Amino acid sequence: MCKKSPSGLVRVLAIESSCDETAVAILQREEDGGVQILSSPIASQIDLHRRYGGVVPELASRTHSRALETVLLEALETAGVCLSSIDAFGATLGPGLASSLLVGATAGKVLSLANQRPFFAINHMEGHLLSPFLQHKEGLIAHVGLIISGGHTLLVEVESLGHYRLLGTTRDDAAGEAYDKVAKMLGLDYPGGPEIEKRAVLGNPNAFDFPRSMIKDGLDFSFSGLKTAVLYVLEKLDPHTGRAPQSALNDLCASFEQAVLDVLIAKSMSALEKTGKTHLALSGGVSCNEHVKKAFGKVCQSKGIELHLAPPSLTTDNAAMIAYGTLLHAESSSAGLRSDLLQDIDPNWALVED
Ligand code: KG4
Ligand code: ZN
Repeated sequence: MCKKSPSGLVRVLAIESSCDETAVAILQREEDGGVQILSSPIASQIDLHRRYGGVVPELASRTHSRALETVLLEALETAGVCLSSIDAFGATLGPGLASSLLVGATAGKVLSLANQRPFFAINHMEGHLLSPFLQHKEGLIAHVGLIISGGHTLLVEVESLGHYRLLGTTRDDAAGEAYDKVAKMLGLDYPGGPEIEKRAVLGNPNAFDFPRSMIKDGLDFSFSGLKTAVLYVLEKLDPHTGRAPQSALNDLCASFEQAVLDVLIAKSMSALEKTGKTHLALSGGVSCNEHVKKAFGKVCQSKGIELHLAPPSLTTDNAAMIAYGTLLHAESSSAGLRSDLLQDIDPNWALVED
């Protein structure tokens, strides 16, 4: 059975394969103006890469190739639609791992050609940036976006679709990368974020006095000093092995998390002050952390700032956010004439050009 998209309304299919999740999503603009996620299956490779302590690029791309057909068929079946009813296709073309990006990008372009529908090249970071607004009645609004993912920490002023101004970025490690590296030092599994969060709730955030690097120094971030500070503490706690004693593990996690959070909050508040914006949106894997969400909620409430969060299923990598980017770009391009078939993947594609 193939349900047609309601007349005049746009239905899109997009693929995400920039790192270690193979994902396909189908989205549809509804008659009431909202957006419905018809399906959004994800085949995660996390278990595969865990034994290596991080993502192995070649393993990731081979696994994307094997998984994509199954995920695509699942997306179509769950949505109850067929390819001929899709109005536009999209895929992540960067940033990410080159060989992984190629799998989703090539599949998306082939689907677009075979079905004679436009193709939209979507920036993965734009997908994250838009994600908190996917299920909002009013859609995308002017705001300051804080993207905290495994590869990036970005503060962006958003006026409207495609009108973005970079306010701050990381000078070294991204916030999620700091979680992953510190977790590895503490002997915890990959990805480190959820592992640290689990222990941090049981620990004392003031037990260790970790640095809040560059907290009063502009809107750029730096997390590598924090990582080194954790390493020094570990060497002090156990000079022989440098391993975290069980008794200190929860306190180390809580103190690390608090140090990251203090910087994220301080910089976001400065960005809001600087831009005069009254809406803040969090996105990316680190934004599914409950402590992060609660702490931001409290500060925003006290300052009259409206906080926009994506549901957990839209914070870590997924194709619904890429499909949302596809949908918004398809709707804003003149009569669907735009097509990015000739655009190549770009592992370093910047969200905002300098
Ligand atoms: O956005 P994402 O899924 O992928 C990238 O685009 O990078 O983010 C992945 C990052 C990883 O570094 C992971 O450790 C972190 O998000 N993360 C978390 C949590 N869940 C995932 N960090 C803190 N707390 C969490 N609960
Ligand atoms: Zn991501």
